[in-house]
This record gives sequence, C-alpha cells and structure tokens, in this order.
Amino acid sequence: MSLFSAIATALWAMLPAYVPNNAAVLAGGGRPIDGGRTWGGRRVLGDGKTWRGTAAGTVAGVALALLLNAGSDTIADLLGVAPVEFPLPAALGLALGAMCGDIGASFLKRRTGRERGAPFPGLDQLDFVVGALALAALLDFDWVAATFTPSVLAVVLVATPLLHVVTNGIAYVIGAKDEPW
Ligand code: CTP
Ligand code: MG
Repeated sequence: MSLFSAIATALWAMLPAYVPNNAAVLAGGGRPIDGGRTWGGRRVLGDGKTWRGTAAGTVAGVALALLLNAGSDTIADLLGVAPVEFPLPAALGLALGAMCGDIGASFLKRRTGRERGAPFPGLDQLDFVVGALALAALLDFDWVAATFTPSVLAVVLVATPLLHVVTNGIAYVIGAKDEPW
C-alpha cells in the first residue's frame, strides 16, 4: 500500500472517531455524567463530561459513518483507494469508544490532581483513538483487523495527534473551546 493510500484510508476509517469530540464541544453542557460526585476529594470526572455532549458526539459519529457509507464508491474513486464501509457495530464502536476514551482520560486526570481543562500531553491526543479502536474491535473485531492494517494503524497513531492539535487550536481560536487542547 502506498503512503498516500495508507493516509487516505486511515483518515477515512477514523472520521467517525474524530468527529465525536468536536461535536461534544459544540453540544456540551447540562448534567455532568458524574452527577457532581467526588472521589478522594476530587470530582470523579468533572463538569467537562456531560450526558448531552457524550450523546451528541456518539450520534454525530454514527451519522457520519452512515453518510460516508452512502458515498463510499464515489469517495473511493476520488481517492483511488479501496472503499471503507462501516458496519453499524463498527461505527458505534468508533464513535462511542472515542467518547469513552476521552471520559477515561478525564477520570485519570482527576485522579492525578489535574483540574478540568488542564492539559495531559499524550493522553489528550490519543485517549479517543485507543477508546475508539478498542470498542470497535470489541464490537466487530474482523472489521478492525481488516481495515487497520499495520501501515494504516501507523498512520493513525502519527497523524491523529497532529490533527487533534490543529482542530483544537481552531476550536480555541473561534471560541468553541476554553483551552487549545
Ligand atoms: N464535552 C461534553 N461531554 C463530553 C466531552 C466533552 O459535554 N463527553 C464538552 C464539555 O463542555 C467540555 C468540552 O466539551 O468542557 C471540551 O471537552 P474536553 O476538552 O474533553 O473537556 P475539558 O473541559 O477540558 O475537561 P477535562 O479536563 O475533563 O478533559
Ligand atoms: Mg480539555
């Protein structure tokens, strides 16, 4: 597989996992998942993880996967790569898994004394990738194994942190996010 094909396939296959975090930022607010509860004197998750944000992010990711499925032949022709088709369990795994990875990261941040919005370099950029791939693999292992070949997976692990930094920087500049991470 050429480098271009690996990059195109990686970004295509990960789109349903990239969008949820951004949708959650735009839709977030309302009741926090932890209901305000604390553990060891600190919030379990914090006000930055809400039911509404999580639901909106998951729905956005699944909806995008279905939209991409509808246009898969056209996209494959345009890019010159084999089409990526998202079975529903895989789509749900990528979207909900991305949200869960991000929630897990907040849990770790609070346990390590970091307040809401504090950066945790590395974790901030890869939490949702790990969550997305793990839940997708749990729900449709064969699809994950067939789609994320070693070269595609390598691109995902290198390109995702870069993309995350850029999109969060944009969200910060346009005022959608309080911090650029
Ligand atoms: N958000 C949400 N629900 C989620 C994830 C995000 O409502 N499951 C919204 C919140 O409004 C949050 C914003 O998106 O403040 C930015 O997300 P993120 O950077 O992940 O949260 P932080 O506020 O930085 O909190 P944390 O330190 O826990 O990551
Ligand atoms: Mg944050």
